[in-house]
Amino acid sequence: MTDVLVVGSGFFGLTVAEQLANDPGLKVHVIDRRSHLGGNAYSEAEPTTGIEVHRYGAHLFHTSNERVWDYVNRFTTFTGYRHHVYSTYRGEVFPLPINLGTINQFTRSAMGPDEARAWVAAQAGAALSGGSAAAQNLEEKAISLIGRPLYEAFIKGYTAKQWQTNPTELSADIITRLPVRYTYDNRYFNDRYEGLPTDGYTAWLERMADHPNITIGLDTDFFDASQPYNKSATVGRLPIVYTGPLDRYFDHAHGPLGWRTLDFESEVLPIGDFQGTPVMNYADTDIPYTRIHEFRHFHPERDYPSDATVIMREFSRFANAGTDDEPYYPVNTSDDRTALKAYRELAEQESQVHFGGRLGTYQYLDMHMAIASALSMVDNVLRPGLVRG
Ligand code: FDA
Repeated sequence: MTDVLVVGSGFFGLTVAEQLANDPGLKVHVIDRRSHLGGNAYSEAEPTTGIEVHRYGAHLFHTSNERVWDYVNRFTTFTGYRHHVYSTYRGEVFPLPINLGTINQFTRSAMGPDEARAWVAAQAGAALSGGSAAAQNLEEKAISLIGRPLYEAFIKGYTAKQWQTNPTELSADIITRLPVRYTYDNRYFNDRYEGLPTDGYTAWLERMADHPNITIGLDTDFFDASQPYNKSATVGRLPIVYTGPLDRYFDHAHGPLGWRTLDFESEVLPIGDFQGTPVMNYADTDIPYTRIHEFRHFHPERDYPSDATVIMREFSRFANAGTDDEPYYPVNTSDDRTALKAYRELAEQESQVHFGGRLGTYQYLDMHMAIASALSMVDNVLRPGLVRG
């Protein structure tokens, strides 16, 4: 007997399942169309080297949310990993996010913080009268924030490749700010807590699901009428938490919501170290990929082979609706926002179906945000409703 059905075994779905299974002790069945649990955070050992690879793109855990940090520590310990990113531009490597080191290397100078701040402000001020409020497109907005030289080196090519679109044709509101640090601190995240799960993401995710009240059905698509937990067999019969794509649930009644996807090209190389760092961005447009991940560097504490390494080149493009393209980042055009509003209205009418997670709400969520939002749904909607019902 199942009390609740959870569609999708990513962080959102597993958090809901784990919480309801423990308190009030409901029987939760989780289905996922993929052959593994964990959603996009899933990772696996590359078979020839044993190096942990993040199949759906690199995942770095970070949060300042105390409740989330306490919660995740119930299932895993974390390494002391601190994320850093570098960017190759015209044959030279610079630290990111843009900081005093980046600016001084770029301008071949030794400016202090105030001088660098004044230099950036002068570049930005020279660019556009009316400032960032007057910007008509992403390029103008970026230049109004950091000036043309830094924009052209570190933002323009990378953004054009991410969106397959010239930044002059992208909306200004894609970026609200471009942080520049006037110190040499190039730690990527500002959060209080950061690290990687000591024995990997999959072990963490499996521990979340390891409860006598939780059952899992893999290779099980909610829209496949031949499996017992399909949409028409379950909606209205038991409470459902749905974390699949919002538009798909409603048969794309208001058209497909736009997503960007990524293509990954992995390679095992017969060398101990390819790039000396986990992530290298490529800012030049003549290099087709946006970045290269080298997974061994996510776990320097592990005993990985010294004569082999795994790299993954990342290519970005628009997802084609109705294909197997994985939806990764919402495009969020004004048409998307109109359709989203219509889908939200439809979702509100589904009294026994609760839409959550990044696909179910059409928004980019970091892992800690997906977990926080699942905990809130359990506290504010599911526990009160299910216990009362
Ligand atoms: P998620 O997508 O993980 O899970 C949804 C599940 O629903 C999937 O397993 C899917 O198969 C299943 N599903 C969909 N339709 C279904 C159907 N019809 N029937 C059955 N199952 C169905 N975050 C972070 O904190 N640090 C980071 O470094 C990164 N990096 C990163 C890189 C990339 C490329 C992306 C796209 C995302 C990140 N993230 C991240 C974000 C992270 O992936 C995200 O927070 C979680 O995946 C959110 O978990 P959800 O459960 O919401 O979705």
